[in-house]
Amino acid sequence: MATINVNGQPKDVTADPSTPLLWVLRDELGMTGTKFGCGIAQCGSCTVHVDGVPTRSCSVPISAVGDKKVTTIEGLSTDGSHPVQKAWVELQVPQCGYCQSGQIMSAVALLETKADPTDADIDQAMNGNICRCGTYQRIRAAIHRAAELKRGV
Ligand code: FES
Ligand code: FES
Repeated sequence: MATINVNGQPKDVTADPSTPLLWVLRDELGMTGTKFGCGIAQCGSCTVHVDGVPTRSCSVPISAVGDKKVTTIEGLSTDGSHPVQKAWVELQVPQCGYCQSGQIMSAVALLETKADPTDADIDQAMNGNICRCGTYQRIRAAIHRAAELKRGV
């Protein structure tokens, strides 16, 4: 038994310590907003924050999480009111949607470090998040819009 901190709450988990965080989130804690894509840290669909750092949860065993703070898509807001979520809805970013929670988590982390990122900043920060539907232009526009919303524009 281990206890991990997810979205500000302690969660007891019984999975083997070598189990990837993604499986614990989805299968043991029932938090299915975080998606399984490749399972080998290549696609970004499983991105969560660990102590604020965007992290591929498919490739982090819970033994490495310890008492660090895990934030998932469910932890951004309970009602879709986070500026990045609002921008995503406003610009209708998703197509199939599968990659989008990972995209949003990477975008949120970017905007925590850069309040008004350039296109180059966005392309660099989002480089590891693959979208097979090719929504990259809308993602970029939505990050600019989220930056405006965070500034109250
Ligand atoms: S499922 Fe984790 S990076 Fe693809
Ligand atoms: S919206 Fe379909 S994979 Fe990105």
